[in-house]
Amino acid sequence: MKKLDISHDTSEFEVAAQLTDDGNISQSCAIDIIHLLDTQGFAVITGLLTEGEANHGLSMVRHYLEDPERQKGEFASQTDMLYGRRDFCPLPSNPDVLSYAATFAQRLQPAISEYCGTTRKVLEISTMTSYRGASHQYIHRDPDGVLCLFAAVDDISPEQGGTVFVPGTHKYSGADMMFDGQADFLTRLYQAKCNYSILKHNLKTLWGLYKSNAFTLNRRELLDRVFSTRYDNHQPNLFRFVLGKNSVFSFSPRTLLQIKKHRQTLAKYFRLVQTAPPKGTVILYRSDMLHAGPDNHTDNPRYFFGMSIARDVVFEEQWREGYSSHESLLENPQNYGDLLKYQTETGNTADYAKAG
Ligand SMILES: [Fe+2]
Repeated sequence: MKKLDISHDTSEFEVAAQLTDDGNISQSCAIDIIHLLDTQGFAVITGLLTEGEANHGLSMVRHYLEDPERQKGEFASQTDMLYGRRDFCPLPSNPDVLSYAATFAQRLQPAISEYCGTTRKVLEISTMTSYRGASHQYIHRDPDGVLCLFAAVDDISPEQGGTVFVPGTHKYSGADMMFDGQADFLTRLYQAKCNYSILKHNLKTLWGLYKSNAFTLNRRELLDRVFSTRYDNHQPNLFRFVLGKNSVFSFSPRTLLQIKKHRQTLAKYFRLVQTAPPKGTVILYRSDMLHAGPDNHTDNPRYFFGMSIARDVVFEEQWREGYSSHESLLENPQNYGDLLKYQTETGNTADYAKAG
């Protein structure tokens, strides 16, 4: 099976932010975003944050990453978290974090309100950082019925691992009628095809890092990532894969034959697109579309500020599988409507510099 074929041209998924006098995006901008979310499952909104706002977000993220007592995320490769390859951590619901989250909610309100009513829950506010050596996540769907936001608080290059999406694979009523009425079968097949390549890519990358003199990946980490039976859906963990215990990646000789048989149909309907958002860009996506966080090939950390808002009622156990709330958010739950009313002000970046 071939290497992943990924396009880095996201121009057809981009909308340039146009703000009105009240600070929200314009109605025409909202219509373009909604059109992309409905037809492709995601939209890349460029220039939504000012330089100062992005800098503030970056300082805030770095400040919390330096806190040894910070809470850690419960998903998206626990082994990467253990070995410091990723740092996905929920942010506390303090005035500065809530004010920052509210800035996105309010500025994007004409688009977000199309999907999220004011009583819908804010499931998490977090930071997602990845470092060199992180695994390439398998192509997966997050739990259904959520609108997710990633904000680039710093420039992100493809080599740093900007998120990969499979356009048009989101779920909605009747979506199974797409792709000649074979949407479920074909999307599963395409997901398996990609994930087989990602498994090979991760094994090759890990071996390269292990053998490299320039970078340290010790034997224990190598064994933990390749042979451990610990729960983790995003490592090239051969035991769990062979035992069929990886819920996002299962593969069989029959699947391989089907991929071969349907390769032209898969190529006709599906493609991988990788984002490389400049600082100040925001990505909105439907949680139930196929996507993945790639590995970081550089020594520059990849930072995202993230927020997820329910589009419907949410079954709590499923929510916890894909989203990590800070305990302060659980104690003091926020709805989308609360963020819309929140008094926003961009804090002073220097406060974080002093604290750090
Ligand atoms: Fe995800």
